[in-house]
Amino acid sequence: TGTPAKTPLALAFESIKGSRTDAFVVPAGYTAHVLAPWGTPLNDKAPQWSESLAMTPEAQLNSIGMHHDGMHNFALSEDTASSNFLLVMNNEYIDQDALWAPKGGATNAESGKRPADEVRTEINAHGVTVVEVKKDAGGKWDVVSNSGYNRRYTSASEMVLSGPVAGSDYVKTAFSPDGTRTRGTNNNCANGYTPWGTYLTCEENWPGYFVKRSDRQSDDDRIGIETERGRYGWETAAGDASEVDGEFARFDNTPTADSADKDYRNEPRTFGYIVEIDPYTGEKAVKRTALGRFRHEGCWPGKLVEGEPVVFYSGHDSRNEYIYKFVSDARWEAADAHVPGADKNRLTIGDKYLDKGTLYVAQFSADGTGKWLKLTPDAVTRDGRTLAAALGLAADDLAGVIIHTADAADLMGATPMDRPEWGAVDPASGEVYMTLTNNSKRTEEGTAAAFTNDGKAIEEPGVGYKTAPTNAANPRGGNEAGQIIRWREAGDHTAFDWEIFVFGAAASDADNLSGLTEMNEFASPDGLYFDEREDEQGILWIQTDNGYAGVADVTNDQLLAVVPAALQQAEGDAAVIGADNQAQLKRFAVGPNGCEVTGIFATPDRTALFVNIQHPGNWPQSVDATAETDGSVRPRAATVVIQREDGGQIGV
Ligand code: FEO
Ligand code: CA
Ligand code: CA
Ligand code: CA
Repeated sequence: TGTPAKTPLALAFESIKGSRTDAFVVPAGYTAHVLAPWGTPLNDKAPQWSESLAMTPEAQLNSIGMHHDGMHNFALSEDTASSNFLLVMNNEYIDQDALWAPKGGATNAESGKRPADEVRTEINAHGVTVVEVKKDAGGKWDVVSNSGYNRRYTSASEMVLSGPVAGSDYVKTAFSPDGTRTRGTNNNCANGYTPWGTYLTCEENWPGYFVKRSDRQSDDDRIGIETERGRYGWETAAGDASEVDGEFARFDNTPTADSADKDYRNEPRTFGYIVEIDPYTGEKAVKRTALGRFRHEGCWPGKLVEGEPVVFYSGHDSRNEYIYKFVSDARWEAADAHVPGADKNRLTIGDKYLDKGTLYVAQFSADGTGKWLKLTPDAVTRDGRTLAAALGLAADDLAGVIIHTADAADLMGATPMDRPEWGAVDPASGEVYMTLTNNSKRTEEGTAAAFTNDGKAIEEPGVGYKTAPTNAANPRGGNEAGQIIRWREAGDHTAFDWEIFVFGAAASDADNLSGLTEMNEFASPDGLYFDEREDEQGILWIQTDNGYAGVADVTNDQLLAVVPAALQQAEGDAAVIGADNQAQLKRFAVGPNGCEVTGIFATPDRTALFVNIQHPGNWPQSVDATAETDGSVRPRAATVVIQREDGGQIGV
């Protein structure tokens, strides 16, 4: 691993200055174009979007969802992969002020009953959008309206449960008495994709949409199911005369005394998964429970090797939560590889690799080594019990271990991290990078006494680390700026070596541990992407979602680039960003005020780089993403296509 066998790329643009404007900023010689903003019609059932459009459930169901996050491109043929493909994007959550702007905001946003059709509209603004996009002869990208591929998966779409939890008592609900189905996916943050041509969407802050007022179970507390009111009060529409089949009642998970056919106490246990979508067919999405249940940021495939298991990495984005790895039982067969345009049953291939395997959690040691700890019912915990016994489960209850994934990880001795967000795998070396965005609940002192768990032992299910002391992998107390960690697998899937690749900071900070300058200072790294290259070592792109004033006062959220292999070639395998190599980490783009920059991929020919602008404050002014807004606009999350004026490759 490590040492690059191929030539590293050289970044061929000047790092740009930080900016704080209502515009998207790119280096000289580049353009940036707004594509597929929220509310763009997918077909003729939706009206054209306008500043005065009053959104309806039907219009939103047939339009691009809100708050674009993770995304990926799916080619329609090998020949057109860089000019015409399916853009599949997550629509993580909503800005109610923008959604309901024409009538001055949401009805009863904070308290009281929400109107049923407002809730339906909001449900339909969440989830995933599949939209065909195409580049015209002039090089301009646009959506293909009325494409047969265009569709939405919303927080109401019926989905299939698969893997160890499917059919278990844990997920039996009034909607699915046999525990094999559920409705909706929610708070889809980052994403992943599989080598067989499917999209993975990842359920992150979904617990905020569910309310349980009594009879709470340990996993409800551990994962943060609400106690009073859901994030947008969707449950308050329950009992509306128009309600169909518990469409709103399912968000209230307080057990009902009257009858089981109205009981949605287990509904939250049908969320918290990696969800597989075949973007080509529109088949029902499949929740892959074997990959664990928590607040999944995203899901990234490890380096693929014929005859070896398929590996996926995933992080739990909450303070002092963990990094996980899934290793398939099935070994990779090249015959399963994705071929654009081929007629294959991709979700059946997904059954093979994603339903049976082993889930591990990461433990980082101070000496730069680490262990992957198995989360199986028979695994032995820190205090010598089996995991099943420690969780109070039957000896073979793998479904129960998965329902309580985070508790299981506590018991095994996983390392509490500074909010794991995106991962990216170096396609050449297989090294894994993961952003640890920040952690306000990281205390300075490195003693066990600094752990607080509301006075309870960490061995007690439902607790977790409310605060945790610094450790080698998370070495800064009150960590506001975050870091990016890197590891390389060592042998048999149970061990790895690691180092911190770069620490976020303001150039003026005393703890600017990586020596950043005003031309690359950043905080709260979030999105990550390796620009894959067949013949050269690629670019690692870093996106930010920052609230730390030290950096936010000098620049909006941004996109940076670095070629790790160039550092490694010069300084060795474990080379990291430091005072001597600042020129290697360059700021490439800056987003408009209020936004985060997230979601990213390049076309295979690398002439276009696609990124998402989520929750902008006052943007976009026009299809030119770089136009500064004049006055105020109804803000719209959007994809931005970055191209070079001369049509060349991005960044090099
Ligand atoms: Fe939705 Fe962890 O970011
Ligand atoms: Ca994120
Ligand atoms: Ca974030
Ligand atoms: Ca976000």
